[in-house]
Amino acid sequence: MSRQRHPLDPLFMPRSIAVIGASRHPGKIGYTIVRNLLESGYKGRVYPVNPSAKEILGLKAYPSVLDIPDEVDMAVIAVPVGLVNRVAREAGEKGVKVLVVITAGFSEVGNKEAEEELVRIARQYGMRVLGPNIFGIAYTPIGMNATFGPSRIREGNIAFITQSGALGIALMGWTAMNELGMSAVVSVGNMADIDVVELSEWLADDPHTRVIAIYLEGLKPGTGKRFMERMREVTRKKPVIVIKAGRTRRGAAAVASHTGSLAGADTLYSAAFKQSGILRANTVEEMFDWARAFATQPLPRGRNTVIITNGGGVGVLATDAAETHGVPLLQPDEDLVARFRRVMPWFGSPKNPVDLSGQAGVDNYVGALRVAYESDKVDNIIVLYCQTAVLDPIDLAKAITDVAEEYRDKQKPLLVAMVGGIETFEAMKILNRKNIPAYPSPERAVSSLAAMLRYTWYREKTTRGTRTD
Ligand code: COA
Repeated sequence: MSRQRHPLDPLFMPRSIAVIGASRHPGKIGYTIVRNLLESGYKGRVYPVNPSAKEILGLKAYPSVLDIPDEVDMAVIAVPVGLVNRVAREAGEKGVKVLVVITAGFSEVGNKEAEEELVRIARQYGMRVLGPNIFGIAYTPIGMNATFGPSRIREGNIAFITQSGALGIALMGWTAMNELGMSAVVSVGNMADIDVVELSEWLADDPHTRVIAIYLEGLKPGTGKRFMERMREVTRKKPVIVIKAGRTRRGAAAVASHTGSLAGADTLYSAAFKQSGILRANTVEEMFDWARAFATQPLPRGRNTVIITNGGGVGVLATDAAETHGVPLLQPDEDLVARFRRVMPWFGSPKNPVDLSGQAGVDNYVGALRVAYESDKVDNIIVLYCQTAVLDPIDLAKAITDVAEEYRDKQKPLLVAMVGGIETFEAMKILNRKNIPAYPSPERAVSSLAAMLRYTWYREKTTRGTRTD
């Protein structure tokens, strides 16, 4: 990579990885991490460390990291808590640059001393620490899956940072199933050293990442101001979407006992996110819906949106959602109305939503899409489809991808929603694989475009030096 070296480069792009606590036994965490590294196609060197093993998964094992006859950039530590600081010190002696500490049993259960000692050792040797209490890190541009999560991660440009381990692991599989492409998945756990801010800063300059999604439970006491100031710089470069758990009083109490972070007053978090240009999602689904749009579509150049549909009902639902979320629907002028009219049955409606009627076929959709792409007055396009027997959703999905490809230079965001049975899910898969965001309801498509508009608006304001609050 051509950019200046960053202290976190060895975390995302290590040339060699030692797995300390690599296990000979399938099913154990230290075994899974070595297996995932091998199966994910990581091109660097992998060194299992285990004093009782000669070989693990076909790789020569070393009794200690100090015995490895090579430089080691990253050490993944998966030995019981009582051994961690000893092997961390050995890693320091070896010249390891970053520790990825999987092991649990530190400050999250009140064992602050061991965690402080870990950080002290790291500082002494100039190492950085991710964790402890994490499931690892994956960075797909170099095929590195140093986690004990699923081995298959779909490549793409969404970076996901998570403070919850189990949820993060679960979402790795979920994103693959939902055709969401990831550049990075990073578990931060107790954030003894490397935190969400520093990771976001690295990802903001990463050419393989277009959007950063964060599951956050809370910040460390006294770090709020730094979070706001530095995340403001990150959002100047890339959209950041946060889902902040512990919104309610009882949720906040649950957070305190989970990672030991301060959940704090939720309104303070909301204000901090707003001031730093962070988009706050309310659900995991919403976070990834928005991320999907940012990951695949150009940022809107304007706000005028056209909805093309074959169903009046979904058109109305989308119109309501547009009003709720502040997505302005274009009032088409006479010329545009005439153009839309030409591509629909006589009983369709050329106003916005442009209702092609339940009789609409592929040609009607293609015609309307062309009109929308070619009009300078239209900035953003939402296509809605209700499954009918006269139009196969798969045919429609293929046609939409062809037209979108043809008009790619127009740089207009296009989002699709399809409502129907199993065939519509297949059709949405086709669209998502071709980087056209497709959702199973009109509201989700509209909400995603609204997030893009909010971010664009924020960026424009801050570039002009105006406050946004
Ligand atoms: N250096 C390297 N390896 C060593 C070692 C040393 N000094 N001492 C022992 N080992 C080996 C063990 O022999 C074992 O290998 P084996 O299975 O081939 O015998 C391996 O390291 C693991 O040690 P083991 O004692 O079997 O530990 P474990 O696998 O049961 O548990 C952790 C280790 C890290 C997984 C466990 O302590 C833990 O923290 N689990 C929770 C992890 C978690 O939930 N993290 C947060 C997720 S979000």
